Amino acid sequence: MFIELQKYSNNDTKDSWSKWDSYRRTWGIVLKQTLERYNIALNKVLLIGPGNGNDIDIEYLESTFNEIILIDIDGEALERFLSKVTKKHKFSKKIIDISGINHLVKNLNIHNMEDDHLIKLIDQLQPSIKLDNLKTKYDLIIHCSYSTQLVSPFFTQKFIFKRQPAPSAIQKSITDLESRIHLLIFGQIHDLLHDNGLTIRFTDTFEMKYDLKNHSINPAGKRILEIMNNDWKNIDNILKPEHFKDLINQGYSISGSLLPAEVYKNNQFIHETTFILLWPFIDNKIEIRNYIVLASVMKKLVRNNK
Ligand SMILES: C[S@@+](CC[C@H](N)C(=O)[O-])C[C@H]1O[C@@H](n2cnc3c(N)ncnc32)[C@H](O)[C@@H]1O
Repeated sequence: MFIELQKYSNNDTKDSWSKWDSYRRTWGIVLKQTLERYNIALNKVLLIGPGNGNDIDIEYLESTFNEIILIDIDGEALERFLSKVTKKHKFSKKIIDISGINHLVKNLNIHNMEDDHLIKLIDQLQPSIKLDNLKTKYDLIIHCSYSTQLVSPFFTQKFIFKRQPAPSAIQKSITDLESRIHLLIFGQIHDLLHDNGLTIRFTDTFEMKYDLKNHSINPAGKRILEIMNNDWKNIDNILKPEHFKDLINQGYSISGSLLPAEVYKNNQFIHETTFILLWPFIDNKIEIRNYIVLASVMKKLVRNNK
């Protein structure tokens, strides 16, 4: 069920290539500017969670890097990614569960679980992530908007189905689990990066949802429109500390989008800069849904005792 959920989502968006054209180009511009600004070696890049690749500037990637390694939990989505590449010899793929909990939850039917039981289950989960068998070192590691997909949709499916928010106690357990997973991922990618390596974390951070039937907008979307003075040209306003803090304090960020502070406190990475992108995700007769994506550029900090 855990993997099936990811496969279902990837299958759902598999034909989004032309729809996501503008987002994909912006994604490529962010990557290009980052490579130029930080003078990164262009040998090996690792993409975590690229799925079908509809949001990835594949052309720029394959014309820039010598080797491109893709890891995802959904092998069929990676096949769809590979069907879009022209320089096939540069690519390789591995099926890896980056959440580290699939083996623990795959046989559980959480639909019938009482809330208390679900909380206990989530709190006891000890993720086990094995990126070390990727062996070689990378110049760049790109996180492809997988963070909000990792565990939240799985544990909140019964509430999503009922169109209700998950109770706050369940949400807290999910947030704690997401933090444990992110700490493990960042600990391991620290080891996978060359000493002068860099990581870019693309994450859908805020959802803006217009319901075309009721002509209503979700609270996060409403607040973001206010912050931008109803003008996309002001999208950078979202990153102003006073606005960003307010959005977080109101609970408007998507579950899984925020990195635990320990990633920086552990002296593993230093935050360099953040780009902000608009991802027009769905536009149909029922809804218009956009994501505000943050791309955080982080440099590896080398430990003194190395
Ligand atoms: C934003 S989507 C990728 C792109 C998009 N679905 C498309 O149509 O191109 C996020 C990706 O994260 C992957 N993902 C989610 N949970 C994962 C996990 N536990 N391990 C590895 N990959 C995971 C999903 O399979 C999905 O491909």
